[in-house]
Amino acid sequence: MRCLSAPYTFSPYVRGLLEELSIDIDGFVKPILNRRTYVRINTLKVSLGRFFEESGLALRQTALPYAFEYLGSNKVADEEASMEKTSVKKIGKTMEYFMGWIHPQAFSSMLPPAAFNLRLPCCGSAEEMRILDIAAAPGSKTSQLAQLTFNRVPIVAVDKRIDRLSLLVSNLDRLGVTSVAVYRGDARVFSSSQLFTHVLADVPCSSLGSSVYAWKKTNRHRIRDMARVQRRIILSAFDALKPGGELIYSTCTITPEENEAVVDHLLQNRPEAKLLKIELPVSFERGLSEYESSAHVARIYPWHVNSEAFFIAKITKES
Ligand SMILES: C[S@@+](CC[C@H](N)C(=O)[O-])C[C@H]1O[C@@H](n2cnc3c(N)ncnc32)[C@H](O)[C@@H]1O
Repeated sequence: MRCLSAPYTFSPYVRGLLEELSIDIDGFVKPILNRRTYVRINTLKVSLGRFFEESGLALRQTALPYAFEYLGSNKVADEEASMEKTSVKKIGKTMEYFMGWIHPQAFSSMLPPAAFNLRLPCCGSAEEMRILDIAAAPGSKTSQLAQLTFNRVPIVAVDKRIDRLSLLVSNLDRLGVTSVAVYRGDARVFSSSQLFTHVLADVPCSSLGSSVYAWKKTNRHRIRDMARVQRRIILSAFDALKPGGELIYSTCTITPEENEAVVDHLLQNRPEAKLLKIELPVSFERGLSEYESSAHVARIYPWHVNSEAFFIAKITKES
């Protein structure tokens, strides 16, 4: 039986939020404290067939074809290993990691890129497509997008922080990503009018769906400040989108101020913005009913995915 591996405390704000959202505390907390380790097999460098012929890692399939839970090494399905906090570090020392065959990434973090419709034309070129990842570092989702588009679609990856951008660059290098241009910039004022067919805004957030530290420290002032940044980023991300394109807005938090309210802000300020139905290979809940966007956004809680919480909205621009 799994036990809670560390003590945790909630700030008064977070406790109040969990009560307000009627969240089952055990179901929320356990998958985060006993965090499972997931990897994405990087099909830019290795086919799934060759990987399983040659790799010594024991992996368990998830609902995404390239996403696996890491169980241990040497083909021993070591249940304990997946519970060890050090397992991500262990993965970082494997040959598969060095060769760029795998990338450690929370399973739920793979869902926002998977929510795009990225089907490339079966033949001919993908010239029409251009992707913007507007808050991209350290590049887990950027490299996933490059993988899903076979390094054939230009991707612009933007982030404000140079230290995080250098991590992004080394990840892209290790993973054999060649389709990404990296740009240091502020997503709140990123001006690239209607250039992109797909925009990912995986915005900075309070991380209440993933961070035990945030449970202890977060107060309403922090949420107000985060939401202010997010409202600006979502408008700038939407303005970069071509008519008919797709914008994914995502966070790894649960506050309505950073999620539904930000999407409502976009709907109220950009009449061409329309929510699209989200299709995901996991179960999830709809948004909170008091918001305009509620019916078409996805609240993914830890108990749905045995991973971090995520919020995802998918939006198009009508011409
Ligand atoms: C949730 S993380 C992105 C994670 C990334 N999408 C991934 O999957 O690896 C949010 C990122 O936004 C960046 N950021 C924060 N404020 C920003 C701003 N005003 N403009 C651009 N990036 C910003 C942070 O440096 C951070 O790297």
